Amino acid sequence: MNTPTTRTRDGADTEWWREAVIYQIYPRSFADSDGDGIGDLPGIIARLDHLVALGVDALWLSPFYPSPQADAGYDVADYRDVEPIFGRLADADRLITEAHDRGLRVVVDLVPNHTSSAHAWFVEALAAAPGSPARDRYVFRDGRGPDGAEPPNSWRSVFGGPAWTRTDNPDGTPGQWYLHLFDAGQPDLNWDNPQVRDEFVDILRFWLDRGVDGFRVDVAHGLVKQADLADWHYPEETTSGDHVEQPRPPMWDQDGVHEIYRQWRAVLDAYPGEQILVAEAWVQPAERLAAYVRPDEMHQAFNFEYLEAAWSAEAQRTVIERSLAAASAVGAPTTWVLSNHDVLRHATRLALPVGTPRPNGIGTDDPQPDTALGLRRARAATLLMLALPGSAYLYQGEELGLPEHTTLPDEVRQDPTWRRTGHTQRGRDGCRVPIPWEADSPSYGFGPTDASWLPQPPVWAEYALDRQVDVPGSTYEMYRTALRLRHELGLGGGELRWMESPDDVLAFRIGSGAGAEADSGAGSDSDSDSGAREVIVVTNLSAGPVALPPGTELVHASGPLTATGQVPTDVTAWARQRR
Ligand code: NOJ
Ligand code: MG
Repeated sequence: MNTPTTRTRDGADTEWWREAVIYQIYPRSFADSDGDGIGDLPGIIARLDHLVALGVDALWLSPFYPSPQADAGYDVADYRDVEPIFGRLADADRLITEAHDRGLRVVVDLVPNHTSSAHAWFVEALAAAPGSPARDRYVFRDGRGPDGAEPPNSWRSVFGGPAWTRTDNPDGTPGQWYLHLFDAGQPDLNWDNPQVRDEFVDILRFWLDRGVDGFRVDVAHGLVKQADLADWHYPEETTSGDHVEQPRPPMWDQDGVHEIYRQWRAVLDAYPGEQILVAEAWVQPAERLAAYVRPDEMHQAFNFEYLEAAWSAEAQRTVIERSLAAASAVGAPTTWVLSNHDVLRHATRLALPVGTPRPNGIGTDDPQPDTALGLRRARAATLLMLALPGSAYLYQGEELGLPEHTTLPDEVRQDPTWRRTGHTQRGRDGCRVPIPWEADSPSYGFGPTDASWLPQPPVWAEYALDRQVDVPGSTYEMYRTALRLRHELGLGGGELRWMESPDDVLAFRIGSGAGAEADSGAGSDSDSDSGAREVIVVTNLSAGPVALPPGTELVHASGPLTATGQVPTDVTAWARQRR
């Protein structure tokens, strides 16, 4: 199983990442310092104390690099600078220092599958001749058909439409095509080209030298393509990367990606301290995903199978067991995640009928989810997640119980998915709306003015942080207590043991064992005997209330218990053995 984490006060943590809670900041939408309606790095710095109060260990920043913003910054034009709307390089340095001063680690986003079409390399490639070294850094091919007017193969973009765009020759005649698994503004790099490999090693070092604690690796399963770029006839699998039954798609999860991550791991390991690589890889089943976190590759991979699991006891239990088994087979920590900037926020997703496939956005003319039900389940899911061993990822705003914005006017949508799918999939804007800090301030305290790059719905006021701080039972206070207990009791380093439970109820013990001893210097002086450090978690997914196991007392819960002390439907309770 996992090596226990040891944590010292002088910052010389070892394997801090194994049980870390990492908070995702989406810079556009976190906090705006200059009133232009777009969040920025100075805004983040000014709000860092929120993360300290919340009790997370690290933050992960979505891209803040120079970019035309064709895909909200996942189209990087320069990997070694800061986009002016977000600030300057000096702000990034200050953010790293200020976070470290507060004991927070900083993970940045690395986007190696593609650059922006505004990147100097791509500009050079377009100006260069077919077959030139400049074009070889990308995936240029002649088209099919008599005039080369058909795309080179059948691949589809994840955002809809063909994965190829035709270029014009300098004389204006139609030229070669280039591959983009995402937007046309995101040309795929050719990872067989040694210059591409060298460049990314250098980019890693650039940010390591500035003091970052790790990299979240975008589309980690996509860098290497099957050499023959063979046609692919399962369109739905082209775009998700999840492929349980079908043969492996030629654009996803090719074995060749692992060599790249072994090289990167060696680069990181040569630095003092512990910096991590986190794979964003939409790969199933869990055993194939585990290959990304073998001991000489990445440290963690996002567990999207968990995020996608239905809200039923059977589905939850199965995914938890499978995830733990697959990660522990390679000695890696499991990760858990319920929300991020690409999916419907879980406070809304869980309101959909159980088993509904995850929709890509919700709009005004769709059935509107039941917010109260969604929040109730989201809180139960979160309290379940935060008891699980391993590392957990939170997405900004979920600690406020924020739902998806499900009534955004279509004309303000910016996700390229909406346009590229011919207005059939609304895309991800609804989870990217700037978050509310103060109920009675302009833009709910997001910035000093009313400006907000996506409009905030009027209901945001009731979710604002200042309406929740010190309010017993608020979602924010629920998160804060859970994170404090998780840390004090060493739950992230604990071992999970299932308990007998009624149908449709999950029950397990989570105790910190060896990890507890190692952690005991970190500040909890009560609760030193092992029974008190063990939590009994009960999540009730059945139709009626259930009793807590005999001899236990409540420690924390995602919602009120019944008058007789039972755990109601869609509530998670943490209990401990009565002493
Ligand atoms: C995954 C990122 O999370 C998403 O936001 C982005 O659109 C794609 N990768 C392409 O970079
Ligand atoms: Mg701004």
